[in-house]
Amino acid sequence: MSEKDLILSALLEKGILVEPEVVGYIVEKGGMNYLPKFINKFSNRPHVKYRDIIEPTNLSVRKNTTSHIPKPASEYGWDFKIDMDASVEMRGTGDAIEFKRLFEDRFRKLSKIISSRVQMQNAVSIARLTEGKAATIGIVSDVSTTRKGSIIFKLEDLSGEIKCLTRNAEFILNDEVIGVVGKYSESRKMLYVDEIVRPGCMARGNRKIEEDISVAIISDIHVGSKTFIKERWEKFLEWLKKGEGEAGKIKYLLIAGDVVDGIGVYPHQEEELTILDIFEQYEALAEYLNEVPDYIKMVIIPGNHDLVRNAEPQPALPREIEKMFNGNVELLSNPTTFTIHGYRFMMYHGASLNNLVELIPGMDYTKTTEIMQYMLDMRHLSPVYGEKVPIVPTPRDYLVIDTVPDVLITGHVHIFSYAMYHGVHMVNASAWQEQTKYQKMMNFNPDPGKVAILNLKEDRMSVKAF
Ligand SMILES: [Fe+2]
Repeated sequence: MSEKDLILSALLEKGILVEPEVVGYIVEKGGMNYLPKFINKFSNRPHVKYRDIIEPTNLSVRKNTTSHIPKPASEYGWDFKIDMDASVEMRGTGDAIEFKRLFEDRFRKLSKIISSRVQMQNAVSIARLTEGKAATIGIVSDVSTTRKGSIIFKLEDLSGEIKCLTRNAEFILNDEVIGVVGKYSESRKMLYVDEIVRPGCMARGNRKIEEDISVAIISDIHVGSKTFIKERWEKFLEWLKKGEGEAGKIKYLLIAGDVVDGIGVYPHQEEELTILDIFEQYEALAEYLNEVPDYIKMVIIPGNHDLVRNAEPQPALPREIEKMFNGNVELLSNPTTFTIHGYRFMMYHGASLNNLVELIPGMDYTKTTEIMQYMLDMRHLSPVYGEKVPIVPTPRDYLVIDTVPDVLITGHVHIFSYAMYHGVHMVNASAWQEQTKYQKMMNFNPDPGKVAILNLKEDRMSVKAF
């Protein structure tokens, strides 16, 4: 672990989130030796921005403006709109035409975004490329690396395909849609790529709202498992029910999948369960969630441990589960997008993280938000087709990130992480399950019991550990 990683995890232990520049500042000031002083100074600040350090006057300004007594969340109404729920369109025979439609939809949406990039001003379709300077957009396949470290790949659009070669990319993934700028050789039918242009992302600017309300974000509860952290989970529920301080501002609770441990997800799972019937697992979950105050709306999507089929997009949990819950629970597909008081949320359980952690150089499971950055740049939640993520060939590619969200949420990894990227809050939500036998075997250390809290008035993320 680098010094920066050590600093970050020590801060997280104290429930303090910081911008990356702040870690750099701490290193400059003396690293781990300076850290206790920093924690002392900022222990009452759940999210420290670089600006807060270089302009300490901001602190006093904020104090003055928040001196009024806030209205509790229970006195506000919900402002919730579903923008995309993929549950509706699940039929498919899996024939080649359906896969073709899925990829064409992906290509159309992403090439439209890429073509608006300045480097793509003179882009033409692949069939219209001519000798010399060239720019075009296509979907990638057959990626390989030469002995000298160049990347060779095929690029295809609706008009044709070409071979490309580049020395200027760290990596390229099969099935991602990219723009390329370089020189085309007609005799070799090869495009020598100088620059790769990904769709990219930028969230909209000022999005703070008047209401002083917050959204709590969690994932992977795994009710029914022997390693479900029941006491800490119950502490969290008690905190919500008491509704004091920050808890009193919570108006929404978002849950990013794997709400129960399921049955038969992996071999010999029954040895790891306290509840052996999946419906009883959901009943136990419902008993818990029905205790959550009724002014809090809950949004639940499924994960790979849930009752619905594994292939993505996964439909919402079925009606028979829905009727176990009170009316403040919204069951949606994985992935889904929705708007809360004007904030756009995209929530995805995160199975593709298993693919991307292996395919993107330098990644590991503690770097989930770095992988999420790539998702945002590629504007796709699961850019590589297949591998460890089964995908249903629907005519629409639901995993495309059409509109840049204000908040991108994943789970699945059982390690909490948070970062901001081009104005997007990225949260890999924490779990409620401690290390399983399987995780121990894989030398994987989860980080459960943390709740991310986004205050919509301040547009500020904080984290609370239970
Ligand atoms: Fe999970």
